[in-house]
Amino acid sequence: MKPSILIVDDDRAVRENLAKYLSPDYVTYIASNGHDAIRKIQENSDIEVILSDLKMPEMDGIELLEKVKLSNKDIVTIFITGFSTIESAVDAMRKGAYDYLTKPIDLNKLEITIKNAIENKKLRSENIMLKQQIREKFDATTLVGSSGKITKIMELIKRVASTKATVLILGESGTGKELVANIIHYNSMAANGPFIKVNCSALAEGVLESELFGHEKGAFTGALYMKKGRFELADGGTLFLDEIGDLPPSIQVKLLRFLQEAEFERVGGTKTMKVDVRIISATNKDLEQLVREEKFREDLFYRLKVVTIEVPPLRERKDDIPLLVEHSLKKFSEIHNKNLRGTTPEAMNVIRSYNWPGNIRELMNCIESSVVMSIGDKLDVDSLPPFLTIRQDEYDRGKPAANLFEIEKKAILEALKETDGNKSEAARLLGIGLRTLYRKLEQYGVK
Ligand SMILES: Nc1ncnc2c1ncn2[C@@H]1O[C@H](COP(=O)(O)OP(=O)(O)OP(=O)(O)O)[C@@H](O)[C@H]1O
Ligand SMILES: [Mg+2]
Repeated sequence: MKPSILIVDDDRAVRENLAKYLSPDYVTYIASNGHDAIRKIQENSDIEVILSDLKMPEMDGIELLEKVKLSNKDIVTIFITGFSTIESAVDAMRKGAYDYLTKPIDLNKLEITIKNAIENKKLRSENIMLKQQIREKFDATTLVGSSGKITKIMELIKRVASTKATVLILGESGTGKELVANIIHYNSMAANGPFIKVNCSALAEGVLESELFGHEKGAFTGALYMKKGRFELADGGTLFLDEIGDLPPSIQVKLLRFLQEAEFERVGGTKTMKVDVRIISATNKDLEQLVREEKFREDLFYRLKVVTIEVPPLRERKDDIPLLVEHSLKKFSEIHNKNLRGTTPEAMNVIRSYNWPGNIRELMNCIESSVVMSIGDKLDVDSLPPFLTIRQDEYDRGKPAANLFEIEKKAILEALKETDGNKSEAARLLGIGLRTLYRKLEQYGVK
């Protein structure tokens, strides 16, 4: 496939000649000015290289470069410049242009420069891919966060991972239960063994039973072959039973037997199978309540919760938010080819003040869409999804006199006034730690 190149020049003869010269080796597009160029780039996602004049009316080459960098940092730009504008060419290089050529254009040099630019771009994207692979591994095995609660969970994971104990993970939807299960497996002695997941709520009872325990040939109509179940597939590793609260009673019995005796039979089979599998289960339901309602066997409940890990909702560990935001900004900037570095303080305030009923999954989705919507290198309030900011706006429109931040800021200022600027005293008065006070002062830009 030929690489695509966009030629931008206000001089019609120049752009057409260049296009003609390059067309045997490249798909060429032409634009007569900066605005036209932006439009062509938006319409043709295959464009890899921009070859542009530097001095053009209305939007010059540098402005074009800056606009392109904001929306797609992956396109390489080569400028063509006369001697009178060589200083701007150097400036353009500083702003991220790949190279520049001086007029009159040496066609050999032009070809080599374009080839190198494409090669360079390829290497860069390979590099990004490698980084992404590392990131995926990191994502699957790292709990981001520094709050006391998350630190405790990490300690618990470390302690439990090296044992064979059955683990029950509890927590609201999107808090990271599956991630915790992953981390336990990859830090266990069975890390090189299989990690098999089953969603107990996704399958009908009969299907679930044969999924889990397998079936013999002819066990039921349609069972044309013997099929191994997930217990067998997980031999030597970990079986993760997700949504365990939805496990039907008939299967609860079989699971209980497995947990007690480490054995089971395939559906329709008589041979007793033995496997070496660690069970991790998870649910966002209140299992104790289900036990009380006799929907979940009490004996099974106790067998499952040899070790219980409760993953707290995000609203109870808001101190993790900055790290989680930073982590997801990095991740989604890479994925969506953006250049975001951090958030504005206002955006962070809005993010922190929201309650996050969907927990970390919701936060990640929100950051992803904000990254996509963002212009510039800092995520700001404008690119946050409306459901976050509308609340803020409602506050701002002034039902109560001020929004929460202003109330807090005011309280802090008053406390400082009262204590003649003594920060430890003020912190005590406010009932917060001194470090928190410092952080808030910085957040609010209070000197
Ligand atoms: N502490 C964390 N650090 C980084 N990523 C996290 C963290 N907690 C959760 N995530 C990410 O958030 C998303 C949701 O997590 P996960 O699927 O583990 O939640 P869950 O508790 O199993 O949710 P559900 O009950 O809805 O199945 C995943 O993409 C996960 O990688
Ligand atoms: Mg889950």
